[in-house]
Amino acid sequence: MKIPFVDLAREHAPMKDALHAAVREVVDSGRYIMGPKLAAFEAAFAEHVGAKHAIGVSSGTDALVLALLARDVGPGDVVVTTPYTFFSPAGVAARLGAEVVFVDIDPRTYNLDPDALDRWFARDARADRVRVVLPVHLFGLAADLEGIRALTRPRGVTVVEDAAQGVGTYAGDGRHVGVHGKLGCFSFFPTKNLGGLGDGGAVVTDDDALAARVRSLRSYGMSERLVHERLGGNHRLDEIQAAALLVKLDYLADKQRVRDLHAAAYDDALAGLGLGLPARPTPPARHAHHQYVVRVGPERDRVRAALASEGIETVVYYPTPLHLQPVFASHGSGAGDLPHAERAALETLALPIRPSLTPSERDTVVDALRRALGK
Ligand SMILES: Cc1ncc(COP(=O)(O)O)c(C=O)c1O
Repeated sequence: MKIPFVDLAREHAPMKDALHAAVREVVDSGRYIMGPKLAAFEAAFAEHVGAKHAIGVSSGTDALVLALLARDVGPGDVVVTTPYTFFSPAGVAARLGAEVVFVDIDPRTYNLDPDALDRWFARDARADRVRVVLPVHLFGLAADLEGIRALTRPRGVTVVEDAAQGVGTYAGDGRHVGVHGKLGCFSFFPTKNLGGLGDGGAVVTDDDALAARVRSLRSYGMSERLVHERLGGNHRLDEIQAAALLVKLDYLADKQRVRDLHAAAYDDALAGLGLGLPARPTPPARHAHHQYVVRVGPERDRVRAALASEGIETVVYYPTPLHLQPVFASHGSGAGDLPHAERAALETLALPIRPSLTPSERDTVVDALRRALGK
């Protein structure tokens, strides 16, 4: 049996008619950019995460660009982030001319470790130049925002949250991620928990002035029509994406319930197999199960190949930590400097957890994993 990791057509099957109608409505309306669908989605998403403002943008990467630009991040500034994630947060900071510093992760949660951040602040001469700490809520588990903010607050450092994988994630205080720092950045890439029919993203904030800056920066830096107050670009979320996201927002709670069921069933079935299972936060914190990632250990690639031979697709997030990527080769950290990130990159494996996965497909994954582990 073939079990794909992602199957978006199956994901969309129960809402296909609503999606077709939403797209048709936009086509017929003649309004394609900055229209009523965008305004409606921004209001709905702001309410969903509990933020005062949500600004729809063209991707999660652009959400990060606009959030850092809104804080005037540039040459001379230091941005501290995690080495164990997708390229965007570090890539964006570096593209804006900031110096990127990677601080190691907590090996249980895979998120930026506040203790490691504390040690770095205490010993590194660049600590005074830190403008932004940029934690990522990896795989749908909140980073330790309380621990991070206890370090940034007395230093006047801004926290920008990368919540690209964090739709549905609650932090320790029970609030949705993205609203704890000055700005939160979301991605609506199609495979995300809330994914569009193409690229999309959002910046959320409670700060009126920052919201106005982000709105201006996403549309050529305009403050009003054809008055360009700052160096913005074209980073807008279009009407078709906003319309599709409004439909998908209605299905989000159901999809989340299925992800939660899959995760709980995997937790039960895989206990005792010697795997490192995902960290379980204490309620009201909530894991959104964007990915279900197990720590297999040094045998990871062999196990992955065994699953593949049975038709089961898995994914390695992320095989190369960012400080070892070619583009960051000259920036300071090398092999051995961030051991928890480096080990995670070698040992972890993401199992299929899409909402369209059936219980019997999930059982097939578990059985194949047992066989591969010889258990
Ligand atoms: C942690 C993280 N940050 C940023 C992004 C960038 O989002 P996008 O693909 O929408 O640009 C992604 C994912 O794709 C991500 O996983």
